[in-house]
Amino acid sequence: MSKIDWANLSFSYIKADYNLRSYYKDGQWSELEESTSEALTIHMAATCVHYGQQAFEGLKAFKGKDGKVRVFRMEENAKRLQNSADGILMQQVPTELFTKAVIRAVELNMDYVPPYESGAALYIRPLLIGSGPKVGVSPAEEYTFIVFVTPVGPYFKEGFKPTKQMISRKYDRAAPQGTGHLKVGGNYAASMKAGQIAHEGGYSSVLYLDSKEKKYIDEAGPANFFAIKGNKYVTPLSSSILPSITNMSLIQLAQDMGLEIERRQVEMKELSEFDEVGACGTAAVISPIGQIDDVDENVSYKFGDPNVAGPISTKLYNHLRGIQYGDEEDTHNWVTIIG
Ligand code: PLP
Ligand code: COI
Repeated sequence: MSKIDWANLSFSYIKADYNLRSYYKDGQWSELEESTSEALTIHMAATCVHYGQQAFEGLKAFKGKDGKVRVFRMEENAKRLQNSADGILMQQVPTELFTKAVIRAVELNMDYVPPYESGAALYIRPLLIGSGPKVGVSPAEEYTFIVFVTPVGPYFKEGFKPTKQMISRKYDRAAPQGTGHLKVGGNYAASMKAGQIAHEGGYSSVLYLDSKEKKYIDEAGPANFFAIKGNKYVTPLSSSILPSITNMSLIQLAQDMGLEIERRQVEMKELSEFDEVGACGTAAVISPIGQIDDVDENVSYKFGDPNVAGPISTKLYNHLRGIQYGDEEDTHNWVTIIG
């Protein structure tokens, strides 16, 4: 293993030692296979390649001050992958197989879990693909489930510093009755062009509006949206956004802190009434948003100090990270300790 600069990790791929694989064929999943190869050999007519029959997950493992490694809410990721599979007619991965593969992937790659002091984490990427051949548009009869890991730093290079996001009506990521609520690759392919335009304009991400009316806030490219308005935690309810496990956790923590929760349609024009806004997700953790530019209407919305996260976002961030790294008591039973 070559030396890793733990303190300066970005969100990118670094090879670890092992990945786990299981194959679905003739009505059953195979025993988990430990692989050292980064390559996959699949049929050229596999449905994942032609018709986008694939879904993935993202979760993290954290090394604590006590040297223990904690995985955050992996059963929720198992459930969401099952939901994604169901949505595009793939074979579901049983929760037991999913959690076994995640735990084994961490155990076999312990050397890649970043040290506590670095503030980095081990990103775990489960992947489910239709690996059997079809030429007509129909579900595969064979599936491959893989779990690989890679050590990561912050998704947005600013880390816990506010970033700017961009609203544009020119691109949609997901349709109201489409696949936005599933973690399937097609949604991310659909977001790449707008994402590139945003990056070129100095924005960390696109903030998507609902694609039907362009009136309500949906979510950012790789993360959910939340806002603080007085004593309220406000987050969009929409059929085209991914049900974020981080957001679900922040809702619980906000409730514990005595905030009122509003999960509802959030009109874009309400942006001017928010005290703090942020993006949240496994990769993004909480990424505070300091400014949102509506580039079509040439309007800018600003939130607090452009260089410092707001007080409630900071409290939520510290609380979430505290539980993940084992600095705070895990009162909701969210972590699984490994090793
Ligand atoms: N929204 C999208 C589109 C995402 O890709 C992610 C990342 O998984 C999230 C939201 C955040 O979800 P989670 O908190 O479960 O990682
Ligand atoms: C995550 O937060 O885990 C994600 O999957 C976001 C992005 C890397 C797709």
